[in-house]
Amino acid sequence: MPRAVITGITGQDGSYLAEFLLAKGYEVVGVVRRTSHHSYERIEHLVPRVRIEAADLLDQHSLTTVIRDVQPDEVYNLAAQSFVPTSFSQPVLTGEFTALGVTRLLEAVRLACPTARFYQASSSEMFGKVQETPQSEGTPFYPRSPYGVAKLYGHWITVNYRESYNLFAVSGILFNHESPRRGIEFVTRKVTDGVARIKHGLTTTLALGNLEARRDWGFAGDYVDAMWRMLQQPEPVDYVIGTGVTHSVGDLVRVAFERVGLNWRDHVVIDERYYRPAEVDLLLADPSKANRELGWTPATTFEQLVHMMVDADVERLNPKHARPSGALAG
Ligand code: NAP
Ligand code: GDD
Repeated sequence: MPRAVITGITGQDGSYLAEFLLAKGYEVVGVVRRTSHHSYERIEHLVPRVRIEAADLLDQHSLTTVIRDVQPDEVYNLAAQSFVPTSFSQPVLTGEFTALGVTRLLEAVRLACPTARFYQASSSEMFGKVQETPQSEGTPFYPRSPYGVAKLYGHWITVNYRESYNLFAVSGILFNHESPRRGIEFVTRKVTDGVARIKHGLTTTLALGNLEARRDWGFAGDYVDAMWRMLQQPEPVDYVIGTGVTHSVGDLVRVAFERVGLNWRDHVVIDERYYRPAEVDLLLADPSKANRELGWTPATTFEQLVHMMVDADVERLNPKHARPSGALAG
């Protein structure tokens, strides 16, 4: 039975990846950090089937201990401070988690289990102020936030450990991917949650920032398959993963409101607090290398994704089904 360690198992991607690997017959070890209350809402249904180990990206010793004790075949580093606005307000902490945390985990692998295959969760935010469109593995990077800069460090340290120590270490440069389990502060989930609240009469308005920004949005459940495929290749190679289609935040808003028969213009207000000090205006993936070499293509369209998320939030907030307010579907 192959054994995988997932950091960030309590996050959106970690929960989908754990389900995916369990279905493939893996033994899954999830790394969680100590918090004052459980953050297991996305993996509650998996807890009996995964082994949970405590470690923190800030703490070298705890990471090395987990890797030494588990002796994994594969390590997926999904843990990070992943919200761009927080990276502007907490840039140093973001650097500790999202940049240096990668080095700490790579050191743990190098010293305690160098045969393990290592996946780093890199990001299209590294393209930032894009130097060409669409963006591929050859596009120069130009990050536009402390988060993007930290991810770029994580990306290059992964390349460096591959080249310096001959580790099987790869970076997946993933474009935005969403789901009903997406954190509520990210724009897709903020919109679908807002639409559901308005539909149920819990509020009347939704405050947003820049509606012009464009993203290449896919479904997280499709993207964890690409992560796994990268670690099954004969050689360690980095890939861009996205849909090859871009939409504006305005498109997202329109499709989400239309799903419940409402006109977004009656409800959306612009609040400048949600504008960023530096914006990423346009992201659009060229995933042709992954299509060709990994045999990976996304199965979910933008419209299907938005409908799935709106439906899940409408169901979650339905006053007739007294579900706990924080419960996540999907
Ligand atoms: P997410 O939902 O924000 O999950 C982040 C995870 O990291 C959570 O499990 C969190 O644990 C954990 N974590 C944070 N700080 C930690 C620390 N100091 N020690 C140990 N664990 C820590 O993120 P996601 O959307 O699943 O994304 C997964 C990864 O892919 C992230 O690295 C993200 O930056 C990257 N990425 C995401 C996207 C996207 O569109 N979703 C695109 C490209 C790259 P708690 O539950 O304790 O907070
Ligand atoms: N969060 C948020 N809230 N974003 C808003 C809002 C709002 O009220 N209004 C407009 N936006 C715009 C942002 O300015 C940004 O251009 C876009 O919506 C997407 O924002 P997020 O959903 O917060 O995601 P992101 O693109 O900044 O970052 C996500 O994707 C990256 C991959 O490109 C995160 O998941 C990162 O961790 C990930 O690396």
